[in-house]
Amino acid sequence: MLKVGVIGVGTVGTAVVQILEDNKEMITARAGTEVVVKTGVVRTLNKERGIDIALTSDPYEVVNDPEIDIVVELMGGVEGPFDVVKKALENGKAVVTANKALLAYHRYELQELAGDLAFEYEASVAGGIPIINALRDGLSANHIESIKGIMNGTCNYMLTKMTEEGVAFDAILKESQELGYAEADPTFDIGGFDAAHKLLILASIAYGIDVKPEDILIEGIESVTQEDIAFAKEFGYAVKLLGIAKRDGDAVELRVHAALISKEQMIAKIDGVMNGVSVIGDRVGETLYYGPGAGGDATASAVVANIIDIARAGGKRSPMLGYNTPLEHGLRLRPSD
Ligand code: NAP
Ligand code: HSE
Repeated sequence: MLKVGVIGVGTVGTAVVQILEDNKEMITARAGTEVVVKTGVVRTLNKERGIDIALTSDPYEVVNDPEIDIVVELMGGVEGPFDVVKKALENGKAVVTANKALLAYHRYELQELAGDLAFEYEASVAGGIPIINALRDGLSANHIESIKGIMNGTCNYMLTKMTEEGVAFDAILKESQELGYAEADPTFDIGGFDAAHKLLILASIAYGIDVKPEDILIEGIESVTQEDIAFAKEFGYAVKLLGIAKRDGDAVELRVHAALISKEQMIAKIDGVMNGVSVIGDRVGETLYYGPGAGGDATASAVVANIIDIARAGGKRSPMLGYNTPLEHGLRLRPSD
């Protein structure tokens, strides 16, 4: 049996607990062992969450619990979870996180600290789409020429609703929050920072490039108006927030901004909370990944997949090829024009 501690039992954490319970029999068979949530961590202990697990408000109770094998970090933020995840790894626990903000700032340090311990984060990019698995393992025979796509479900949901139903920006942002798509601070979504965090994670896997969000061009959708969208629509374009990584020789350009996309292009047809990422490899050509980019169940699907993989590999070590190694070395950031 493997014991899991879930630090953060909110939108994603609750869905993780529910999937592990609802699909218990199948997961036990696939993992090769029973996976049990021993403890969950929340701020407010007396909130009704519709799940039946022991709760504490102290993350360190979980990371210092000798019975817990896998720590799942789903609390959000950067420095708080950094300390918690560091302690978990120092205590020899496998870690799974969906926290892209944490990874955008501390991925290399945590990966280094993890060593051979599993440190997995499939859910951190594009929600339920297994894009990290695809990039790290499925495309490992390729030099990656570009990664381009819709990486933020909230913005895509908002832009879609503004286009199709003419809903006002503030009202639709509120709806995205209620649906569990938006970050605790939605400025991260609408300001383009969340997409940038995801882009940096993918770029670190594909190119080994270690840059911070502050180093790249990031524009959000706050200044996109109803008029911009109507105008674009009239001329056969959709407005999408894109994350783009493009390799040029030994340099990589990274940027996030809204763009006009011709309705003929596949990416223009990706609507609602869906994400879509195109990855071009020098040998395979273009590959496309599409699916739900946010929300409890979709995100938890990727978190639980990491847990099952870790269990299959014996409970502590990383199951994934290329775990510690980016696909390229020695590339530099190319400033955006
Ligand atoms: P959420 O609904 O706000 O849940 C956060 C949970 O963490 C809550 O249970 C909260 O407790 C707990 N928490 C926060 N700070 C804490 C602290 N200092 N001590 C103890 N407990 C604390 O967030 P979420 O949407 O599930 O997102 C969790 C993580 O997954 C974030 O890193 C987010 O970026 C990432 N993510 C989210 C999605 C998505 O679609 N929502 C998708 C991919 C990745 P209370 O419930 O008591 O407030
Ligand atoms: N707030 C994020 C989004 C959650 O809307 O894409 C998924 O990472």
